[in-house]
Amino acid sequence: MAQVISALQQKGGVGKSTLVCGIAYLLGRQGAKVLIVDADRQGTCVAYHDTAEKQPFNITAVTDEAGLRNVLATYGPDHDLVLIDTPGIESQLTAHVAASSDLVLIPSTPSQPDAIGASRTWSLVERVRAANGGRPRDVQIILTKFHHKARITARITEAFLGHGMPLYTHGLQELTGFKEMYSTGVPTGAAAGALQFLVAQMQRDGVITWSRAPESCQ
Ligand SMILES: Nc1ncnc2c1ncn2[C@@H]1O[C@H](COP(=O)(O)OP(=O)(O)OP(=O)(O)O)[C@@H](O)[C@H]1O
Ligand SMILES: [Mg+2]
Repeated sequence: MAQVISALQQKGGVGKSTLVCGIAYLLGRQGAKVLIVDADRQGTCVAYHDTAEKQPFNITAVTDEAGLRNVLATYGPDHDLVLIDTPGIESQLTAHVAASSDLVLIPSTPSQPDAIGASRTWSLVERVRAANGGRPRDVQIILTKFHHKARITARITEAFLGHGMPLYTHGLQELTGFKEMYSTGVPTGAAAGALQFLVAQMQRDGVITWSRAPESCQ
């Protein structure tokens, strides 16, 4: 059965779709069987899938709970990883997506409004977890579009940690390659490197459970 990972954040434009598409691309290239479920009517992930003739992941779209349940039951067993992208508003689907996930990723840029959105989304996920027998098992806030040396990056990081929120140790800094990938179909240059670094760390920490089998030495 696939690990189900969703990107949730009630604030728009924080990098949910970019995180989902980037992880799908990277793990697909590593040999994982990956499915993106696009639950956002904007269809950003569907459009990303269509940028290249052959992307290394499958894609489907859903609009409601029944559709999501059906997709997870039908395709979950055939995949290593199912990634769910969601709209940047709290929709009816949001709580259901959280309850269907093993891991919820909450992207946030280091700006106050986005951090408030992350905090509210985290509270929602914690409520779902309490009501749902401990599922999702894991939730991580991923810092996005940040500049390492900016004072606001340090300030928002401290605020997350000071409030006991699960800020992940790695994130995706502001890089032009994350914009270009929607035209080229491929995260390139520094963006590819940042993505590889994040995903490798998540695999090492067991946050992402799939990893490439070690090459046999013959
Ligand atoms: N790390 C990054 N560096 C630079 N640009 C980024 C980064 N992450 C995302 N972007 C850009 O920011 C914009 C919003 O990103 P994205 O669509 O992933 O956000 P979203 O949270 O899915 O938005 P929505 O709520 O509208 O679905 C896009 O133009 C994307 O290319
Ligand atoms: Mg999006």
